[in-house]
Amino acid sequence: QEEKEGLVFDSTNFQGDMPKEFLWPSRDLVNTTLEELKEPLVDIGNMRSGDEGAIANVAELVRNACLKHGFFQVINHGVDPDLIDAAYQQLDSIFKLPIARKLSTKRKPGGVSGYSGAHADRYSSKLPWKETFSFLHSHQTISNSQIVDYFESVFGEDLKHTGLVYQKYCEAMKELSLVIMELLAISLGVDRLHYRNFFQDGDSIMRCNYYPPCNNANVTLGTGPHTDPTSLTILHQDQVGGLEVFVDNKWLAVRPRSEALVVNIGDTFMALSNGSYKSCLHRALVNKNRERKSLVYFVCPREDKVVRPPENLLCTNNEERKYPDFTWSNLFEFTQKHYRADVATLQSFI
Ligand code: SIN
Ligand code: FE2
Repeated sequence: QEEKEGLVFDSTNFQGDMPKEFLWPSRDLVNTTLEELKEPLVDIGNMRSGDEGAIANVAELVRNACLKHGFFQVINHGVDPDLIDAAYQQLDSIFKLPIARKLSTKRKPGGVSGYSGAHADRYSSKLPWKETFSFLHSHQTISNSQIVDYFESVFGEDLKHTGLVYQKYCEAMKELSLVIMELLAISLGVDRLHYRNFFQDGDSIMRCNYYPPCNNANVTLGTGPHTDPTSLTILHQDQVGGLEVFVDNKWLAVRPRSEALVVNIGDTFMALSNGSYKSCLHRALVNKNRERKSLVYFVCPREDKVVRPPENLLCTNNEERKYPDFTWSNLFEFTQKHYRADVATLQSFI
């Protein structure tokens, strides 16, 4: 099938009027308060210090945030700021490519890797004002050049360096994610290594988001309201801002902090905590004058592992199971078939 005329979303050459497919109904747009979310800033450096008192304090901050909305920001995370800068620079190398080259890597329905622009949903309305490029970071292969290999295979030699930067970025994210898993375990009062061990061999997903400036920024969205079906999301947003979380019945802005990484609980971790840690609706606005970029690392368990809360969590709290057993591959398949941007996935899945 041919692409619908005029709807190929080419950010390298996008001018003129906004196609109606990008207009969102006003009920989806209202309530932008620009009020800020009061998420804690968590000094993750404490995890390396071995100071049990400091770790307990940090775990308490995380616990309170996760019980309420599942968002916090981490500082002293140990990821080299130069690596984050490099990852942003390489994002340009991808999105500034001619549209035909980007489209040649197009993400297939049900797949994880590749380019996606709004044209991917060309027959629907409420299109997101963005382009994305996603790829797998697998821990089931022993190859430590899988991302370089992927970039080379889809873009050729000239984006090999880009692949190298993202390989390093993903390795840093994976390492950090396992430290956060320890912190989450402590905060829930379960064995410290429980979630670390569970996620050690998972297949994570990296996504680069590019939101072009939009003349009509107040009638569209960059990313519509959704919860992340994955387990844990580690995100860096640039200084433009636009990430918002729906808490206490209003949209609250997550303040951009260049030195911090935003962490949020996804549906799968919500199930692993037996529903006590929240996977919250969030969205991204676009900006009238400035392009916006974000780097997102989605942590997932190995796709065939059974997702169930640790026994001692259920025993200690004498709780009933909130969700039946499932695997990440079951949930992923469901999201591909029945994705509804405005409905909490896990509720409709069970
Ligand atoms: C997302 O939640 O998928 C994107 C958020 C962002 O770009 O800040
Ligand atoms: Fe998200």
